[in-house]
Amino acid sequence: MVKKSELYNQMPKEWYFGPAIDDEEIEAVTRVLRSTRLTQLTSSVVGEFEQAFADYVGAREAVALNSGTAALHTTLTALGIGPGDEVIVPAFTFIGTVGPVMQAGAVPVFADIEPDTYCLSVEATAAKITSRTKAIISVDLFGHPADLDPIRELADKHGLFLLDDACQSHGAKYKGKYLGSIAPVSCFSFQETKNMTTGEGGMITTDDGDLAELCRSIRHHGGQSGGMIGRVGYNYRLTALQAAVGLVQLSKLESANHTRRSIAAIYHEALAGLELQLPLEKPYAQSVYHVYSFLLPSRLAPKRDAIIEDLNVNRVPAHAIYAKPVFANPVFEKLDDSFTCPAAKDVANRVISLPIAHSMPLDLAEKVGELTKIILTEHMASKETAAQDRSLG
Ligand SMILES: Cc1ncc(COP(=O)(O)O)c(C=O)c1O
Repeated sequence: MVKKSELYNQMPKEWYFGPAIDDEEIEAVTRVLRSTRLTQLTSSVVGEFEQAFADYVGAREAVALNSGTAALHTTLTALGIGPGDEVIVPAFTFIGTVGPVMQAGAVPVFADIEPDTYCLSVEATAAKITSRTKAIISVDLFGHPADLDPIRELADKHGLFLLDDACQSHGAKYKGKYLGSIAPVSCFSFQETKNMTTGEGGMITTDDGDLAELCRSIRHHGGQSGGMIGRVGYNYRLTALQAAVGLVQLSKLESANHTRRSIAAIYHEALAGLELQLPLEKPYAQSVYHVYSFLLPSRLAPKRDAIIEDLNVNRVPAHAIYAKPVFANPVFEKLDDSFTCPAAKDVANRVISLPIAHSMPLDLAEKVGELTKIILTEHMASKETAAQDRSLG
């Protein structure tokens, strides 16, 4: 067996695995710069990116925006969600899912998650529906699809809009079909860490042509045909420079996702024998492993931060995504909600995330897996832990 110190010496001192960018993206941006048509208003490149993305996911329409947050806010606004409305969101997600609900003037209502996929629970969602509920936002967390069919059934039964936040899941599949073609409307992010990037950026996909037109109007100041302003809108436009990068990145998405799945498989293999809850793929899902998060056994939850620190000291840049349920943020303090979401609280207490990026070499992933296994095994066997087990048992 390889020694911990040997693996430590092979770890990078500075970890930075950013997006995979090469000459293709640089040349695409240069072409746009040389054309001097830099914006969606003057260049055809944004439209080409929208068409290519719609074709890829299998949706009729795609609307490009300058962030995933803008995509969610634009969609909620186009759906007419506003003051007095409630929108159900998962209790365990990035703040970017929830901020747009409040930007639209509506109230986010947190529903618990499935303990194995960390995605929205259908039962918990059903329990949170009131006469004020207008929409449900499902999130395909960490690259794994939410169970969209039963969530959609529930939404349809109660006459609610369903918006799928696929910001972390480009190229993931639900029952064999790409996300972006499953829910009535879906939103994506192209921020730098995502499986494909435009630096910052976002996309809405839908089969509903009227909804797409409304989103296009909101994206551009609420403009209507004839150049007049018909409603309140924003400047949420993507630049042609970003769209040019997006077109190239989209052509590499399958390969990026293949690499991420390979890294996940390496971590799975390294950690398989340990007492951990590893990320899984439900029979209906193909994950793209935007994040690789596993759960410690409950008895080790109090040591989670110390274990992460130990991994970091040993040059494994592990962290906890997300160390708290999203409702724990002070911005939600004034909400009239008791936040009873035990699964979200439990997952947040036990989660550890390992580094994953498609620019990361596979042999480095093997070393990360091995080193992580050694460190976790030490913590699981430590006297302190054993004593704790006895006192618990
Ligand atoms: C689940 C989720 N929703 C929304 C967003 C917001 O996207 P953006 O950062 O592009 O605004 C993100 C971004 O990380 C996300 O992960």
